[in-house]
Amino acid sequence: KLPLGRCHRRFQCNHDYEKDRKKITDNIDIEDIGTKVSLCRCWKSAKMPFCDGSHKQHNKETGDNVGAINVRRRAL
Ligand code: FES
Repeated sequence: KLPLGRCHRRFQCNHDYEKDRKKITDNIDIEDIGTKVSLCRCWKSAKMPFCDGSHKQHNKETGDNVGAINVRRRAL
């Protein structure tokens, strides 16, 4: 098992999403998400920054355990 810092230097997690940008950040207006949104953190989604379920195949192939960040709006 690699120490976290060493892992970050040796491997890239973003393989093909907007590689021309110096740093990837995405902004989502909370008014636009409705009641729930799932955000990708495996970098495999074809619908970045949203989860499209691609993490399941990634986990199957690598033994990893990543999943989406689910953001929900509470009913007021
Ligand atoms: Fe990346 Fe689901 S596709 S977390």
